[in-house]
Amino acid sequence: MQQLRLAVIAGDGIGPEVTLEARRAMRAALDGVELVETEYALGAAHYLETGEILDDATLEQLRHHDAILLGAVGGDPADARLAGGIIERGLLLRLRFAFDHHVNLRPTRLHPKLASPLRDPGDIDFVVVREGTEGPYVGNGGSLRTGTPHEIANETSVNTAFGVERVVRFAFELAEQRDRRLTLVHKKNVLVHAGGLWQRIVDAVAAEHPDVAVDYLHVDAATIFLVDRPSRFDVIVTDNLFGDILTDLAGAVGGGIGMAASGNLNPSGEFPSMFEPVHGSAPDIAGRAIADPTAAILSAALLLEHSGHPDAGRRIRDAVDADVDARGGASRATHEVGDAIVDRIRTSKEQA
Ligand code: NAD
Ligand code: IPM
Ligand code: MN
Repeated sequence: MQQLRLAVIAGDGIGPEVTLEARRAMRAALDGVELVETEYALGAAHYLETGEILDDATLEQLRHHDAILLGAVGGDPADARLAGGIIERGLLLRLRFAFDHHVNLRPTRLHPKLASPLRDPGDIDFVVVREGTEGPYVGNGGSLRTGTPHEIANETSVNTAFGVERVVRFAFELAEQRDRRLTLVHKKNVLVHAGGLWQRIVDAVAAEHPDVAVDYLHVDAATIFLVDRPSRFDVIVTDNLFGDILTDLAGAVGGGIGMAASGNLNPSGEFPSMFEPVHGSAPDIAGRAIADPTAAILSAALLLEHSGHPDAGRRIRDAVDADVDARGGASRATHEVGDAIVDRIRTSKEQA
């Protein structure tokens, strides 16, 4: 039987709670494919227990999987032992860099039955293509005269023509398959070097895609449109930091952060891609079984679609849609949402 070798990093906080439901959905949705799951105990809790964040041997093991499913990592923000984002940078970002996840794909689609905080949400269906391996995330900075009144703290945003071009090309190709509208979001009125490079590359690639309508927004204005008229967006292409910020906002307007899925893609397939909800470990609600697992479940659907199992991915999506359709006002426990979605996946498979 065909295998799908899956590495699971459940992580911290609500990570393990939502990942459990995502795994159940995958098992239910796959047909004629053996899901071989290997759990990796990584994250803040693991670090506090063992002193290990992500060693080279584990990284090498992770590499030999078809895909990675990640819950969320990051511990109690008040814990001084975790200061400086050592887990986020040493684990999550290290994986994104090591496995060259240069496309961070973050779709938003507001289901018609789902309440949006917007009074007039309109038709919300867009994808943010966030660059995943450059920008201010590279850790290229430093501080001088640290701790003095004369401290100078620098964070350098790295933007290479190579790195920008490959993610821009991906975004145009995606736009070709969608509504053929692409918006570059940057801050080129201030960040002139990086912004100039992004705009020039978008212009050059646009010439190869005459059927894609291209426009540009400064990131501050983009946040207005995401709230006022999100239907204006189809594909947004942007840098690592702007993409991080915009996609939490996108999650909120698209039905809630508990619905927002993402994929860290290595499109060449040289390394495994990694799928995770947009949200974090939510320490404020962890351990109470109230986290919405839908974002993790939809991330599993993305995983299946990008790992050669589109039918199984579709089954999960249809089940989530049906679940949202049937939602009343009552709040449900994490596993109740998972149960409802898994039941629907099973039924749809039996009826097929
Ligand atoms: P967060 O996304 O964890 O939480 C923000 C708010 O959204 C909280 O009120 C939380 O309760 C709510 N929320 C998040 N997911 C939810 C869900 N599935 N259902 C219902 N409500 C949900 O962001 P934060 O508080 O800024 O970060 C907490 C920790 O997670 C930090 O350590 C941060 O660095 C880390 N983090 C990790 C990832 C990741 O692993 N991919 C992503 C973002 C943040
Ligand atoms: C995300 C998170 C991460 C990011 C953090 C935890 C490093 O916010 O996946 O959106 O900034 O990319
Ligand atoms: Mn984020």
